[in-house]
Amino acid sequence: MDPADSAEHFDALRALVGRSRGADGVLLEALRRARARSTGPTAAWAPAVAGALGLPAAAGLGPADYYADLAAPHGRRHVRVCTGAACFAARGGRPPDGVEEALGVRTGAAAADGSVSLQAVRCLGHCYAAPACLDGGTVLTGPDLAGRLAAQAAGGGGRPAAPPAPAAPPVPAADATGDPALLGGVVAGEAAWQVWPRTVSCGTPEQVRAEVSVAGLRGRGGAGFPVAAKWAAAGGSPGTVVVANGDEGDPGSYADRLLMESDPGRVLEGLALACFACGARRGVVLVRSEYPRALAAMREQVRRAYADGHLGRDVHGSGTDLDVGVAEGAGSYVAGEETALIAGLEGGRGCARPRPPYPTRAGLWDAPTVVNNVETLAALPWIVRRGGAAWARRGVPGEPGTKLVCLSERFARPGCYEVELGTRCRGSSRTSAAGRGPARSRPWCRSAGRWAASWPPTTWTCR
Ligand SMILES: Cc1cc2nc3c(=O)[nH]c(=O)nc-3n(C[C@H](O)[C@H](O)[C@H](O)COP(=O)(O)O)c2cc1C
Ligand code: FES
Repeated sequence: MDPADSAEHFDALRALVGRSRGADGVLLEALRRARARSTGPTAAWAPAVAGALGLPAAAGLGPADYYADLAAPHGRRHVRVCTGAACFAARGGRPPDGVEEALGVRTGAAAADGSVSLQAVRCLGHCYAAPACLDGGTVLTGPDLAGRLAAQAAGGGGRPAAPPAPAAPPVPAADATGDPALLGGVVAGEAAWQVWPRTVSCGTPEQVRAEVSVAGLRGRGGAGFPVAAKWAAAGGSPGTVVVANGDEGDPGSYADRLLMESDPGRVLEGLALACFACGARRGVVLVRSEYPRALAAMREQVRRAYADGHLGRDVHGSGTDLDVGVAEGAGSYVAGEETALIAGLEGGRGCARPRPPYPTRAGLWDAPTVVNNVETLAALPWIVRRGGAAWARRGVPGEPGTKLVCLSERFARPGCYEVELGTRCRGSSRTSAAGRGPARSRPWCRSAGRWAASWPPTTWTCR
């Protein structure tokens, strides 16, 4: 190719990128609204949505065909049924019985009159009460989903709807400290926003970074990357963005959902502390669409945080400005990966790209971007308040602190458990051991320096 031609193509690409910047956060929302009004194929509506924003047809068709929420036809009543591992196991390895019959529509399709549609999803974060489905914004759980869907449809007009899905049972750490670090708000009523006002007005970013470094906190999003090292890599420029990753796509996990729904203030306070530590003036919370309650809770928490002066201009008279927005995912497991997540926030397909460059150098709209998991961020208020050394004393060398562990419906005591890292467990089948019942498993408590005696051992017993 002639070099002049290639330069011309490159410039055209830059121009397109420049135009799409104007649609920051707008394109996916516009596509979502159009999808909700149409049962037709994406080609029937996505190009027009892009056109209305001054973008080429491909800019609309790309994400519309990529994200499950946009590709799946939506009727006026849209039901998402979970086919993830915990629900699969809860049904004894069978597909969702009777759901298609109850709704009169095949999975992945909408009724001809547009009244109802059915979509299969991988996890709804209700694995402890599996199987689960989402009827509009209402979660239904339990063995007879077809019956519950029928009850839900019959509800209203004075008649009872299906019973509400139970909340995730949170269980605090049972170590010698008796001090839950992540579930403090959920199980002990410890209020959020205890740390932020003082830190932003009297502390420094260096102090926050030092405590997190001493804590040895490692990311809870999967890779276990040291948090302090990631923050340092971003370089501390004011253009930095910090993203709270609430995509939680792994079937069987619901810790992030529990935190966002039950203690959204702690997650947001953690994000504010991370922004402060990184010199960032902008934070984004990404919540997957399969978690409508978490999405609503985080949006409400952001609204309140502005009203209470935790966010906005000159936060608590400190001279620090901080803005935070909440974005909704569109149904992609891969879009939980940080580069794919950033592509989604820019309105594109949620596809991962090779690194380097790492997002800390070139992320959201090319700005230095730190992506941290929701559980990682929720640990920050505790660490800043109690000190990094207190976090480092818990867990085991190289893996300090506590961790949320989610047990699904097939366990004897399903729930979200906060345990010290390094906690040992032994499970036994309820039907094994010649009817002798579950074997006791005793976790090692490092801080107590002994085997725990009263930690709930049957928790780890499989049904
Ligand atoms: C396919 C794939 C999916 C991922 N999904 C998530 C997710 O849902 N939530 C999350 O926090 N991290 C997810 N990650 C990891 C992120 O890329 C990133 O490492 C993480 O959000 C960083 O947060 P942390 O440093 O606090 O762990 C995923 C990674 C891959 C490869
Ligand atoms: S809700 Fe079905 S696997 Fe989590």
